[in-house]
Amino acid sequence: MTLISNDIDKAAAILSANDLVAIPTETVYGLAGNIYSEEAIKKIFTLKKRPFFNPLIVHIHSLEQVTDLALEFPEKAKMLAQAFWPGSLTLVLKKRPQVPDLITAGKDTVGLRMPQHELTLALLKKLDFPVAAPSANPFTHISPTSPQHVHRYFDDSLQMILDGGNCSNGIESTIIGFEQDEPVIYRLGSISIEDIQAVVGAVVIKNKKEDAPDAPGMLDKHYAPRTKTILTTDVNKSIQEYSGKQIGLLLHHSYEQAFNVKHIAYLSQSGDLKEAASQLYSAMHQLDHLQLDVIIAHRLPDTGLGKAMNDRLERATK
Ligand code: TXA
Ligand code: MG
Repeated sequence: MTLISNDIDKAAAILSANDLVAIPTETVYGLAGNIYSEEAIKKIFTLKKRPFFNPLIVHIHSLEQVTDLALEFPEKAKMLAQAFWPGSLTLVLKKRPQVPDLITAGKDTVGLRMPQHELTLALLKKLDFPVAAPSANPFTHISPTSPQHVHRYFDDSLQMILDGGNCSNGIESTIIGFEQDEPVIYRLGSISIEDIQAVVGAVVIKNKKEDAPDAPGMLDKHYAPRTKTILTTDVNKSIQEYSGKQIGLLLHHSYEQAFNVKHIAYLSQSGDLKEAASQLYSAMHQLDHLQLDVIIAHRLPDTGLGKAMNDRLERATK
């Protein structure tokens, strides 16, 4: 039986005994283990069926821990940390030798993030080690934004899910690395490009496999439902193409034209992009469980969080 509870002492005891706990963050749930325990880290890779070439993000609660784990803290990284931590930003920095190679997939950098979830921050403060936490889903599947999503994926192979309710942001952190001390976005995420640029000026984006040798996790197929999924700018045309099939629609807002389709998930009543992002994965989970033939998703506006959502939906269609 998996314990689903908000007891952080229990969670701390399990993590200290080299086992895993699923932890809530404001982005998605993570599958956490002690970064210094080879046993715990190997369990993460095994449970997720994740290839060892894909590094893990280290979760911290204080800026002092950056100094413990990273060799350098470039000026623009400091500005970003100050602006967005605790929050949905991962900084990829040159690592110190004591960060195990298993965490970083043998790379000379480490991804660091200070999450903004009260329960998880309190848990991290109780531990005398940082935790590595990839999203708590099997490799390439949709990320979990509730304890129930996590439980459905792993049944009872997990001792505990720390119950922090639904994730408020609902999309993974924005990942930023540094090339000659200049920021490069490796993964679009919960903090928009516009918000990043307001702090550090223009940034380069390298989030495609072809131009991101430094971001090994930027896979073409990812965040994918089992149901065939397509992304379109013309919902009517796609509905016609799949006439006679069981269709699920994923729509941005509720006052889009009435479609004659039984299963429709709306991401936001008003079309608010932040609200839509918070609902994206739970809507995908919901439609994916209806045994439909196809999920037709309406492409979102290509601004703010819409860009990150379109990125996830594109990878879901592969
Ligand atoms: O919001 C999030 O970031 C969530 C929550 C749980 O914190 N975590 C998450 O982890 O999304 P994961 O493992 O599903 O995705 C982490 C991504 C992977 O694509 C990985 O390749 C990349 O971060 N990454 C980690 N360390 C890296 C490094 N040193 N250099 C480049 N990319 C790195
Ligand atoms: Mg993931």
